[in-house]
Amino acid sequence: MAERLITGALNKPDAALELTLRPSLFSEFTGQTKVKERLEIAVEAAKQRGESLDHLLLNGPPGLGKTTLAHILAKAMGVTIRCTSGPTIEKAGDLAGLLTNLEEGDILFIDEIHRLQKTIEEYLYPAMEDFKLDIIIDQGPNARSVRLNLPRFTLIGATTRSGLLTAPLLTRFPLRERLDYYSADDLCQIVLRSARLLNVEIELAGAAEIARRSRGTPRIANNLLRRVRDYAQVRGDGKITAAVADRALAMLEIDENGLDEMDKRILETIIVKFGGGPVGLNSMAVAVGEEPDTIEEVYEPYLIMEGYIKRTPQGRVATPLSYKKLGLKAARDSQPTLF
Ligand SMILES: Nc1ncnc2c1ncn2[C@@H]1O[C@H](COP(=O)(O)OP(=O)(O)OP(=O)(O)O)[C@@H](O)[C@H]1O
Ligand SMILES: [Mg+2]
Repeated sequence: MAERLITGALNKPDAALELTLRPSLFSEFTGQTKVKERLEIAVEAAKQRGESLDHLLLNGPPGLGKTTLAHILAKAMGVTIRCTSGPTIEKAGDLAGLLTNLEEGDILFIDEIHRLQKTIEEYLYPAMEDFKLDIIIDQGPNARSVRLNLPRFTLIGATTRSGLLTAPLLTRFPLRERLDYYSADDLCQIVLRSARLLNVEIELAGAAEIARRSRGTPRIANNLLRRVRDYAQVRGDGKITAAVADRALAMLEIDENGLDEMDKRILETIIVKFGGGPVGLNSMAVAVGEEPDTIEEVYEPYLIMEGYIKRTPQGRVATPLSYKKLGLKAARDSQPTLF
């Protein structure tokens, strides 16, 4: 099912293939030109001064290249990167273990940094600012605080929800970058590159068709490419043309604008069950049978960007474009009449 394909895609199913396709140099990283330029300058400057890279926060929807950039940065700096994620750091001791194992200049990558516990976050402040870590050892009357000196490391935090980060944490990142959805042209280049790496024969128009229907997201583009490759192999002669891509994507129930089953279910729910909105996130999540977080992080940003829904203080509202997409007529005028 298309729905599973997209969510599965965002849950990073195929680690080995994702590694093959993941660019490891800035020159292979397509799009996001401004972000790339700023980061390349930061790397060059740090290298010239012989310093570690400043702490960096990468923010943006899933599958746009945050983890990829962190690895590219480590390679460009010539340092080791250690990866962890917010929810897996449970105790201050876990963090201390990670930090004390770093060498001068190393990168600590914390994925989903918005899910870091507040108590752990507080240990991070002096570590980021002064490269010191105060930990309490022993319990009861023997408890004492020990100050550890840390190497000058770089913290790269990745988040899909920078709005959930506390101000003290946010302000401790001198570099902050937001990744945006990719243009169809950039995605087309990514599909062509991946096809080359996967040894798939593809026409430019075939790549463009996949790109156009990938919700601005390289991970989805790569996943759709694999599915279309399967289709081309089984139902065709292995070559991906525009017609083959179109048939394969239609079979996956991915429409001409890249919306999948879940996207359409969300639009339909707002329009049919909630009269076009406004509807609160939680009510909508229950009605479509998906986690509120997933709706907010994965589905909504794209639907909002493409103009299918609007977020208002009262809740989500379907725009005329949604009605058009589903072939429905607005039951009432969505613009309030002014007297
Ligand atoms: N700019 C790019 N050029 C080429 N391929 C890319 C680019 N960005 C991402 N990709 C591809 O998309 C895949 C997903 O990217 P990545 O894992 O870096 O996303 P992410 O932002 O970390 O997602 P998540 O929030 O789910 O962790 C990569 O393995 C890579 O193959
Ligand atoms: Mg990632």
